[in-house]
Amino acid sequence: MTDKTTIRELRERVAALEAELARRRDRGGDELDYRLAVENANEAVVVSQDGRFRYVNAKAVLISGYSRQELLERPFLDFVHPDDQAQVVRQRAYPPDRRHAARPFTLRLVARDGRVRWLECQSIRIFWRERTAVLSFLSDVTVRQQAQDRIRSLSQQLIRAQEKERQSISCYLHDRVAQDLSSLLLTAKTLLGDEPHVGDATRDKVDRMCGVLRQCIDAVRNLAYDLRPPVMEQLGLAPAIYQYCEDFSRETGICVDFTSAGMEALDLAAETEINLYRLVQEALNNIRKHSGASQVAVKLIASSPNILLRIEDNGKGFDVEEQLIHALENKRMGLGGMVERVSLLKGRLRIESRLNQGTRIFAEVPIG
Ligand SMILES: Nc1ncnc2c1ncn2[C@@H]1O[C@H](COP(=O)(O)OP(=O)(O)OP(=O)(O)O)[C@@H](O)[C@H]1O
Ligand SMILES: [Mg+2]
Repeated sequence: MTDKTTIRELRERVAALEAELARRRDRGGDELDYRLAVENANEAVVVSQDGRFRYVNAKAVLISGYSRQELLERPFLDFVHPDDQAQVVRQRAYPPDRRHAARPFTLRLVARDGRVRWLECQSIRIFWRERTAVLSFLSDVTVRQQAQDRIRSLSQQLIRAQEKERQSISCYLHDRVAQDLSSLLLTAKTLLGDEPHVGDATRDKVDRMCGVLRQCIDAVRNLAYDLRPPVMEQLGLAPAIYQYCEDFSRETGICVDFTSAGMEALDLAAETEINLYRLVQEALNNIRKHSGASQVAVKLIASSPNILLRIEDNGKGFDVEEQLIHALENKRMGLGGMVERVSLLKGRLRIESRLNQGTRIFAEVPIG
């Protein structure tokens, strides 16, 4: 090897080392930028490991009102609202993988001043100091949550007011209008009596009048019945749903199999009865309008401390999430109304549906 080649090789190695150094410097610069970005992010960013925060950014400090030191020292569950702690533990028991973030969920944080902040949390598994940890991004959605709560409370008030109104209109139609029409019919029937001088034409007219009155009475009674089924007040929820399923089946030709168990002994609140009844009404109407189903199964079961209602069809199914998200813009109220009614009863509603595999609706509400 000549001196010239040695010098050239040495130069090349120096150039390669300089390039590597520059690359590392750049990477160091990137890391610094990431830290700056995270520290100044408009979301709270935290890293947790072994039940404690290992890192919290400035926004986490701001939202919580605690100092960085306080946040790092205590178990992070101390900062979570007691009712949400189980959910947070559950989410952590199945840490998301490293490539995909977990589904976001909402949790309540109790700030230093005792006020509750709603945070939407999205997490991903990372390595922190060579061990598994969870990196979470938390957006403060308190204002949005409060607005949703207000809307929810208003729509529940609306449902209550609507039911009260329906009940009073139903009573009025049944007890006053239908009664008055009935006595009018009686008068009309006996109007001519055995009057010998009344001609056939007049008798025909009175007969036609009686026919119209009879139709009127039926229509008013049906309206009163639809507004508030009297069977429910007299016999209770299960017979009222049974009756509704029978009528539905007769009118639509769709076979409805209704079963109930353990309902006889219960003394349900009127609000529970009417809302479960409306749930069945809406579900069956949806089946008639949208599903193309030929078979429906309705089950109503008392399973202390809850009542379980299940409505299942063998129709064409639909994308539940999509329908719920776009309900307002599509001006569809049915599914949303079901959700509100069940939440008004402090219960839970689950809708499962698959294309061409039918739809199942499960409602679970406390008995009393
Ligand atoms: N059992 C079902 N089978 C198939 N599709 C359904 C079923 N129930 C609901 N859907 C679909 O979900 C949509 C939303 O239902 P929703 O009850 O909210 O509205 P709607 O019945 O169209 O209108 P509204 O109830 O306000 O009169 C329906 O338009 C339909 O596409
Ligand atoms: Mg509907």
